[in-house]
Amino acid sequence: MNRRRRIFLAVVIAAAFVCASLSLPTARVAAQQTQRDDAAAAAAFEAIVPVLRHPRCMNCHSVGDFPRQGDDSHRHTMQVHRGPDGHGINAVKCSTCHQDHNLAGLHTPPGAPDWELPSPAMPMIWEGLSDRQLCELFKDPTRNGHRRVEQIVEHMNTPLVLWGWAPGEGRTPIPTSQGKFLMNVQEWVAKGAACPVATSARTLPR
Ligand code: HEC
Ligand code: HEC
Repeated sequence: MNRRRRIFLAVVIAAAFVCASLSLPTARVAAQQTQRDDAAAAAAFEAIVPVLRHPRCMNCHSVGDFPRQGDDSHRHTMQVHRGPDGHGINAVKCSTCHQDHNLAGLHTPPGAPDWELPSPAMPMIWEGLSDRQLCELFKDPTRNGHRRVEQIVEHMNTPLVLWGWAPGEGRTPIPTSQGKFLMNVQEWVAKGAACPVATSARTLPR
């Protein structure tokens, strides 16, 4: 065998190895795609939108460097700000008042583990986004906290998100059934996480 042929053979063998090592993930992707259904995925996403736009979620996912309060989403009182990391500013950290559970009584701080705002570097602002843009944000690791869509499903199951269904005295719980919400989130991803067509953006009253 001359030198050229030997190099050629080496390349072919290397290529075969690469193909073999790729064949497993490829098979898995193919299996997933047989279940892919863009219309069903988009419909499942639309079904979760009323939850996402509920004040229990929007009060931490709105425009501005502060959280909001109440069903009217008014600006958080007491000079509370997002701060450099989303945990508040020096003397007024979220954890100064909010604990990992709701405190008893009216107008006391609600609470859940990791009660804070997203950081200003990745603020996860949903206000002003159309349904489609919201869906695209959830799929974009540079804007969603470096998550794969499967990890969005996981995040929807965290105590911070589930708090919306048990928000403490005097606050309206999210009316959509929690089971249906989680099922639709799961369905959106299982069917390929397609996004709905563009709709007009909605904003909160000021
Ligand atoms: C107390 C504030 C707070 C509330 C209330 C809140 N979130 Fe969040 N949310 C956060 C923070 C902080 C992050 C970033 C956490 C991280 O990246 O680990 C986040 C991130 C997310 C993300 C992933 C990032 C993205 O935008 O794609 C999703 C999805 C999400 N929240 C869903 C919800 C839903 C649904 C509700 C209402 C049921 C809700 N959140 C209510 C603070 C909140
Ligand atoms: C000085 C105490 C204090 C600090 C600091 C504070 N909060 Fe609050 N927060 C409260 C109280 C009290 C309430 C309840 C107000 C009521 O029900 O009238 C509240 C309510 C909220 C609500 C409203 C929930 C809803 O859906 O109505 C959100 C969201 C919130 N806080 C987020 C935060 C975040 C995020 C931080 C840190 C950046 C923070 N808070 C810092 C005392 C505080």
